[in-house]
Amino acid sequence: MGIFVDAGYRTRLGTSFYDRRRELDTLDSAVHDYRLVIVYGPRNVGKSELVYYWSRRRAKQRVIVFQIDAMRARSVIEDLDKYLSAPEERVKKIILSRLREELKETTTSYLRLLDLVYTVYEVVQTVKEKVVLFLDEFHMLPGYRASMYRSRYEEALTDLEALAHRLAKYEEDYLRIVLTVSEGFVATGEALSRLHGYNAEFMPVEHMDGEHFSALYNEYKQVNECSTDYYLLHGIVGGAPGYLAELCRGEHAVKRFVERSKTVLENSLSAVRNILAAEPMRSIAGEYQDPRQLIRLAHEVMIEDAIKPMEQPFLYTIGQLLTTHNIVYPFLGKGYVRFKPQIPLYRVLLEIAVERNAPSILDVETNEVIRRTRRQ
Ligand SMILES: Nc1ncnc2c1ncn2[C@@H]1O[C@H](COP(=O)(O)OP(=O)(O)OP(=O)(O)O)[C@@H](O)[C@H]1O
Ligand SMILES: [Mg+2]
Repeated sequence: MGIFVDAGYRTRLGTSFYDRRRELDTLDSAVHDYRLVIVYGPRNVGKSELVYYWSRRRAKQRVIVFQIDAMRARSVIEDLDKYLSAPEERVKKIILSRLREELKETTTSYLRLLDLVYTVYEVVQTVKEKVVLFLDEFHMLPGYRASMYRSRYEEALTDLEALAHRLAKYEEDYLRIVLTVSEGFVATGEALSRLHGYNAEFMPVEHMDGEHFSALYNEYKQVNECSTDYYLLHGIVGGAPGYLAELCRGEHAVKRFVERSKTVLENSLSAVRNILAAEPMRSIAGEYQDPRQLIRLAHEVMIEDAIKPMEQPFLYTIGQLLTTHNIVYPFLGKGYVRFKPQIPLYRVLLEIAVERNAPSILDVETNEVIRRTRRQ
């Protein structure tokens, strides 16, 4: 189809906007068809940038943007206006004064999804405007905190379910909500079933294709230093532009990244093993005791094209657990799931560990990883 580049647009990386024609179309129709759209996918692939771009270049509706990650930096509600963009000052002012009123006695440290949505909903209902509310990284709202009983992701998921339920029941159709989430908790089978039937759509955003990613890499390299060669970089992190800044510093940066990724993967496998060791799973687990076996199964999860929950319950369970640890992300087909590695490096690490029959990912040599990714 040829390269798509919007050279008049500046991304937060400081380059033109590349690729994503298909995703932009999908987002158009998802926002048309559903009241709640959850944009998910591996870390750093460009989920947020995609929605920002869409809101500025494509959206037919007005878009109100809350930058949630930035909101954690301030605790006082008075500062909220810095993190809100609305198409018109008038609308922005009304929303802000409502929010302040509502939260007068408190601070943003209690702010949750429904607070923001109710406030915006009230405003759009009174001014009779159709708007899209875009909440970038909603799970980072300061109100989500871990307690003794629940993780902050469980809190966020319960809120999301409550929101979908409310939105689905509103009589008026003024508000559309688009959320981006970089954490796996929102992409599990549980999240899917909890939101099913509530007018919500899950939209995956995956890695950029090689052609677009290399064009972006070349533009980035012209402006910034990048002494890491393209093939190595792409072999390690795939088409996820968010890794460019960290990995462009050279091969030593790549090696450090591989080292850290080994630890992350090892820790996640160990957490998976502990969960599988818990009582209810014992009947299907059995072999979890041997770390080599879990490494083999985790590798299988990543290379299987289609895992059917009823036929391969064990692989499916491991895939779900690795999803919550941000090691894989699910791609849903009809009656099956495909779990893809968040970055190609995880697959390579498991592949080498399986070949060597290694009991630990930490046994895999970084130099071998580098050699192999260059070759692929
Ligand atoms: N289509 C694109 N063209 C050019 N640059 C892009 C594109 N998409 C993303 N980028 C850049 O890549 C970096 C990562 O993108 P972004 O932060 O949107 O990823 P994300 O998937 O939202 O990450 P996270 O998992 O941290 O939420 C950003 O600096 C962004 O500007
Ligand atoms: Mg993001």
